[in-house]
Amino acid sequence: MAETKNISLTLKVWRQAGPQAEGSFETHRLNNLSTDMSFLEILDILNQQLTLAGQEPIAFDSDCREGICGSCGAVVDGIAHGPERGGTLCQLHLRHFKDGQTVWIEPFRAKAFSIIKDLIVNRSAFDRIIQAGGFVSINTSSAPEANTVPVSRHVAEQAMDAAACIGCGACVAACPNAAAMLFVSAKISQLALLPQGQSERKRRALAMVAAMDREGFGSCGNQRECERVCPKGISIRSIARMNREYLAAALIGEE
Ligand code: FES
Repeated sequence: MAETKNISLTLKVWRQAGPQAEGSFETHRLNNLSTDMSFLEILDILNQQLTLAGQEPIAFDSDCREGICGSCGAVVDGIAHGPERGGTLCQLHLRHFKDGQTVWIEPFRAKAFSIIKDLIVNRSAFDRIIQAGGFVSINTSSAPEANTVPVSRHVAEQAMDAAACIGCGACVAACPNAAAMLFVSAKISQLALLPQGQSERKRRALAMVAAMDREGFGSCGNQRECERVCPKGISIRSIARMNREYLAAALIGEE
């Protein structure tokens, strides 16, 4: 484990008062920051200083701060969620930065993710895609005996890998086309792989892809930037599966 040190950083933070306002970078110097701190902790410190100085604190999203919920997110030095691979912004620690470094912080940028304020973007497009088909319509009561619905280990693992998506939106922010295909394909895959997802399988693929297009996301160009920044390591193999699901549904039609 890296030795704890204190460092100073210069932050260039994107400030934007509202969706229609013009934004710009604001410069702040922060000293005596422990390298054990997370990136959100330094934004907390900065906000405390701004508040005490009578200035508007920086708006940013967070909730669990454990890399689980998908609420946080920003582009740090040009990389969605920052330079630490496989993590969220709340799990990005200062040990990855050098003393005296200048760090640029911007919101996730995409046509479908409008900026609400500062680093907060509107990711409700993801909710509407899920509403279009990211569910199973089955009656539930007490859980059935697990062995009555056999699922092979290999398939269960693939479904769990896809289900790990936390919907943070980093894939969209990283993609040159602002495509949401990694997100949508993960949601389609997790249900298409399991017996419980079969009843609406074709309708789901058609409806979720149509919703994705309606929201203004771009198309996958196989650049794999989404895979690079995904905090849950979701593979673009999900996108290939989504394309197969969509093609089958489009050719055969809904059942
Ligand atoms: S705050 Fe929940 S993943 Fe970062």
